[in-house]
Amino acid sequence: MSPPIVLLLSGPNLNLLGEREPAIYGTATLDDLVQRARDRAEAGGAALEHVQSNHEGDLIDAIHAARGRVAAVIVNAGALTHYAWGLHDALAAFDGIVIELHLSNPQRRESWRSTSVVAPVATGVIAGFGGDGYPMAVGAALRLLGPS
Ligand code: DQA
Repeated sequence: MSPPIVLLLSGPNLNLLGEREPAIYGTATLDDLVQRARDRAEAGGAALEHVQSNHEGDLIDAIHAARGRVAAVIVNAGALTHYAWGLHDALAAFDGIVIELHLSNPQRRESWRSTSVVAPVATGVIAGFGGDGYPMAVGAALRLLGPS
């Protein structure tokens, strides 16, 4: 049997990780974080796919393509988290596990970051643990999936 697939989605500006506001987001690059997530997935017998885009529609297309194929979506939607209802609707139409992920804890930052349109369609949320959140999110997804 083929291993369950975990799809990691990275939204706008996350391609700049390592250079972008390192006091908030740390110095690891997106490649570093994807590697940590992939290592955790493979250690748990799963496969990890990753899509980064600065455009909401690309992320929606990736979620549509995941339907019926991917077991869990982990999404750090960047600022789209706070207003992208199209992304919300695409995740609502996905029938697997959805984990909302953030490096920072948006709840303790500017008030506009307190709203998440992803949270109402997420199985759970991991935020505020920096890069450690990436393997944590994969571990949480694997726990929910159970033995494969
Ligand atoms: C973020 C938090 C968002 O508010 C912000 O727009 C980001 C990154 C995080 O990982 O902490 O781009 O999702």
